[in-house]
Amino acid sequence: MMQLGGLMLMATLSMACSTQNNPMVVTAHRGASGIAPESSVFAYEEALKLPVDYLEGDVQRTQDGHLVIFHDASLGADTDVELFFPHRRNQPIETFTWAELSQLSSGKWFNITYKDKAQKRFDQARILRLEDLLEKLDPNTGPGLYLETKRAHAHPNIEIELVALLKQYGWLPMAKTSGPPRVLVQSFEPESLERFRVIAPDVPRVLLVVPMKVASLGRAGLISHAQAVDAYGVGVHSLSCTPWNVSAWHEAGLKIHVYTLNSSWQFYVVEKLGVDGIFTDHPQRLLEFLERESL
Ligand code: G3P
Ligand code: CA
Repeated sequence: MMQLGGLMLMATLSMACSTQNNPMVVTAHRGASGIAPESSVFAYEEALKLPVDYLEGDVQRTQDGHLVIFHDASLGADTDVELFFPHRRNQPIETFTWAELSQLSSGKWFNITYKDKAQKRFDQARILRLEDLLEKLDPNTGPGLYLETKRAHAHPNIEIELVALLKQYGWLPMAKTSGPPRVLVQSFEPESLERFRVIAPDVPRVLLVVPMKVASLGRAGLISHAQAVDAYGVGVHSLSCTPWNVSAWHEAGLKIHVYTLNSSWQFYVVEKLGVDGIFTDHPQRLLEFLERESL
């Protein structure tokens, strides 16, 4: 019975496989965040040693208008904020100035949590501004940018400043390539993608969706939501990647990028399903799985 179940699963997976032959897009999620503190210069430098397609980052804004790359709403989990501001552990990042944020270590937590991967230099990690990352990159070669407006509702019109920075650093207008677009923007908030559609229509937009939302919208509902912002694709949790969803989203012309997978068996399953890209904290592992190891 087990064998039959396995065969049926494999048959279903094979039927659902994409007919597209485009290579799987490899996105270093918050940099190579499986081996260095997420969103730090160390994580991005590790990713830059690899032939990844994109560097992912969550963009938010400080009280005084600097765009920073940071995932959480507050600083308590991933910085030593309590050392400097003992009562502000749970305050949202937009209540801090850049001068305040720049004092904090964004790497000590990693050394404490992952003793086997700890490195002394990680203690010195600082929250990065988007411009600090852009300074390290070439808009015409190397990895592209896959930027998320995180908690966009808390950072009104952040899209305007993000687009301005991309223009300032030569990423926009976007270079034409035969490969994937050089810049992608993504958000869980369709309103943010709509603002991008208006101010930078040529930058492809990816609608992020949590599994509960995928379930509540249904296949057609999600497609309508994505089409309403003229989305290039959807960014979904692997739990949402049923063969039926994948095939319907592809039929609607949407790319499918899956967050956040780190094991080869997971890569195997979603590759069989025919998804177009994977966000991973371990880009080295995904590149090895895809046999794309050298720069
Ligand atoms: O941006 C893709 C993925 O990063 C979405 O989830 O919470 O890691 O930003 P999160
Ligand atoms: Ca993200």
